[in-house]
Amino acid sequence: MCADKCVDSVRAIVDPLVQLRTYLNQVLKLEPLVLVGGTAAACYIISCAFNKIPKDGVTEGFKRYLFKKARLIPSFRKEIDSQIAATGKEIEENLLKLYTDEGNDNPEFIVRLPCQGLSNDAIISKLEDYMNLGTYKWENNRVSGTVYHGGKELTELNTKVFSLAAWTNPLHPDVFPGVCKMEAEIVRIAAELFHGSDDACGTVTSGGTESIILAVKAYRDYAVRVRGISNPEILIPVTAHAAFDKAAELLNMRVKHVGISKATMKVRLDVMESMITKRTCMLVGSTPAFPHGCIDDIQSIAKLGLKYNIPLHVDACLGGFLLAFMPKSGFQVPSFDFSVDGVTSISADTHKYGFAPKGSSVLLFSDKKFRHHQYFVQTNWPGGIYATSTLAGSRPGVVIAGCWSSLLHFGLNGYTEITRKIINAARRIEAGLRDIPGIFVYGEPQVSVIAIGSDDFDIYRLADSLNKKGWSLNNLQFPSSVHICVTYRHTEEGVVDQFLKDVTDAVDIIKLNPQEKVSGAVALYATSQQIPDRSLVGDIITIYMDALYNTTKKGRDGGDTYLQSCDRTSKPNRENEMHLNGSLDLSTE
Ligand SMILES: Cc1ncc(COP(=O)(O)O)c(C=O)c1O
Repeated sequence: MCADKCVDSVRAIVDPLVQLRTYLNQVLKLEPLVLVGGTAAACYIISCAFNKIPKDGVTEGFKRYLFKKARLIPSFRKEIDSQIAATGKEIEENLLKLYTDEGNDNPEFIVRLPCQGLSNDAIISKLEDYMNLGTYKWENNRVSGTVYHGGKELTELNTKVFSLAAWTNPLHPDVFPGVCKMEAEIVRIAAELFHGSDDACGTVTSGGTESIILAVKAYRDYAVRVRGISNPEILIPVTAHAAFDKAAELLNMRVKHVGISKATMKVRLDVMESMITKRTCMLVGSTPAFPHGCIDDIQSIAKLGLKYNIPLHVDACLGGFLLAFMPKSGFQVPSFDFSVDGVTSISADTHKYGFAPKGSSVLLFSDKKFRHHQYFVQTNWPGGIYATSTLAGSRPGVVIAGCWSSLLHFGLNGYTEITRKIINAARRIEAGLRDIPGIFVYGEPQVSVIAIGSDDFDIYRLADSLNKKGWSLNNLQFPSSVHICVTYRHTEEGVVDQFLKDVTDAVDIIKLNPQEKVSGAVALYATSQQIPDRSLVGDIITIYMDALYNTTKKGRDGGDTYLQSCDRTSKPNRENEMHLNGSLDLSTE
């Protein structure tokens, strides 16, 4: 009975298709070969068209296309090229100023190996010169983020750690088991701090960016290998760190950016849900997001993840090592870690508020089934069976040792005490800024980053004025804003008061002439936002990146004037060549 019904239903679908085929064959008179070939070609064209959709969306792609075409118009191209060249020159000159020291505005570069190696004393003296380049002194406690601790005792500890572990490399567990043990312990300590179960696992990476790239790789490969998803995509808030875009570019994946609420600066959950597709292999939330210091609603994103069976990565690179201690320091924080069902991975940078030396972060997974897809394993290489857990091959064991030492140095109570100081300073800054007429604070920052904007004047003018007073803040865009990332340096006596006073004074002056245009280095930020084609901005930034590596500019190449000259020609050793040829001849006889 039931079988008959099934056969009938199948017939109801198949029969019309068979009729359609017969009809098409009669009308179009196509050979089966042509039909098969045509279908294959159509599939190929559709798939090519799909792959041609730009990863950053159709609108951006169209803008780029238009601009590319417009740049073919000679007069337009000439104008653009001359503007880029002028901006590039200005950038190079500004950078060059960083390399000048007192009484010498034409810096020399070392561009060749010294003939004789220098003595340790000479090298250290030279190193001291380099460390004194530029006029900016982070020790004055006026820089946003960047140096998160920098205390004397910790520096002394790191110096000893370096001397003990300088040559270690976890790529060789048999030679350096100690650093491997330290790495495993760092991961376990972090997993415990973020409420991971016994199944929680992870790795130490070289920084937030690497942690993020590896998380994206793990979820891409998990999606492809386990869930059978082709062309997996990632879904991130627009405020998520640019490292996700970098990961998507490197891993050839599509990234979709979810808008935020203007009131809270948190990702919009309704929009995020509407953008989920069968290809979505990963959701992302930040705690907090770098730009405005606001924490995405991790519990609600986790619910979306559970509903659609999609892993959720929490980017706690910036705030992780504060959030973990905030409850104990007396501050409320929303649950964001593995205590939230649906959170499957967390990145947390030990080299930020973990106060470890630069070059360390932790990537944690709730379960080993994800971490396995982070690994790279090559079993057929003539150089041996090769496997790495992170992007690098060899890794500096000394950084792992430094990270491990920092964790032990502060301990639970040390971190709790410092977190209390940092969050208190941040809260005082936030409250003070909210009291200054003419500026406003974005959203409700809950950790250490406070972003400010203004409806009355160009906020970059404030950044410029504060720069002149020695403050180095972060400039943000879309919308124009600046932020301060409060560190241990700002908890020193008087720093918060001075900052608030400097902002108040600067705003008072700016408000005397609110329409004035911004000048100085930050002006580039203001103008760059007006350029609709972002590839042009990209071109300028490329010049900046090139300039960072430029040692060849006229007048800068004279780096070895303090080194002796010597014969630098490298003549091939003919004798050895003959010998080699000779032995080859013999072997082939
Ligand atoms: C939220 C967030 N994620 C990731 C990163 C990237 O970290 P890193 O610079 O160590 O690669 C940062 C850096 O500021 C960050 O703030």
